[in-house]
Amino acid sequence: MLYDHVTETVRYIRQTVAETPSVAVILGSGLGSIIYAMKDQVVFPYRDLPYFPQSTVEGHAGQLVFGYLGNTFAVALAGRFHYYEGFTMKQVAYPVYVLKMLGVKDLIVTNACGGINRSFAPGDLMLISDYINIIGANPLIGPNDERFGPRFPDCSEPFSLALMDRARACAGKLEIPLQEGVYAFFNGPCFETAAEIRAFAALGADAIGMSTVPETTAAVYLGMRVLGFSCITNMATGIAKTKHSHEEVLQVANASAGSLALLIKTLMEEWETAE
Ligand code: HPA
Repeated sequence: MLYDHVTETVRYIRQTVAETPSVAVILGSGLGSIIYAMKDQVVFPYRDLPYFPQSTVEGHAGQLVFGYLGNTFAVALAGRFHYYEGFTMKQVAYPVYVLKMLGVKDLIVTNACGGINRSFAPGDLMLISDYINIIGANPLIGPNDERFGPRFPDCSEPFSLALMDRARACAGKLEIPLQEGVYAFFNGPCFETAAEIRAFAALGADAIGMSTVPETTAAVYLGMRVLGFSCITNMATGIAKTKHSHEEVLQVANASAGSLALLIKTLMEEWETAE
């Protein structure tokens, strides 16, 4: 059934878009400027796409945007689905299945998150080296369709080492400082307790957030290469001296978005020629 639904979504897109994007990006908070840089756009509001999940937030319907960054034909997802909104993990990951069936091989995931590593500060950008998911939910739970991927996927390299090398080199060239670390997924919507953050610190997490891992897990299962970036918008509970607010998260994400958008845009423009 999932396979049929994804096939239908892709068939709809293919009525308008003939070319296959070489890279996709899921845009976290504040990164919309990447879309403004895309040329010759074809835009699909999520509501027009058959079987695509629909955003629960009024005014944030979400768009799938195809277009060129330099010579690279790319696709961007402006608006993502979160587990805490009540979507199933499968729904959260649905766009990634669509990307895979469109023929997209590489995926860039981005997010805003809390810093656990005490050498980090709000506003820092982090290259995601690995993830922790211990919440007991996973988009691959349920019957497996071998046409998509194996029942027991290997997750020893969820983020492509080759793409991480490329990102480090590009950040160096642009003189954009880049931290590196492990991203822990927590369901939310509550920000974590101080005890939870101590537990995640003990487990080896450098940062924590409420997204990214479902999409990454699905992409790895589907055989795609993934590159992940976080914007540290606040220090996590118990490390931060102040209480959290979504407004603070958005404010810092917007302030740091410029350099992350530049880094991602530059990486994508060079996607075809890089190796
Ligand atoms: N915790 C979880 N998710 C987040 C945080 C945080 O501190 N900041 C931004 N997203």
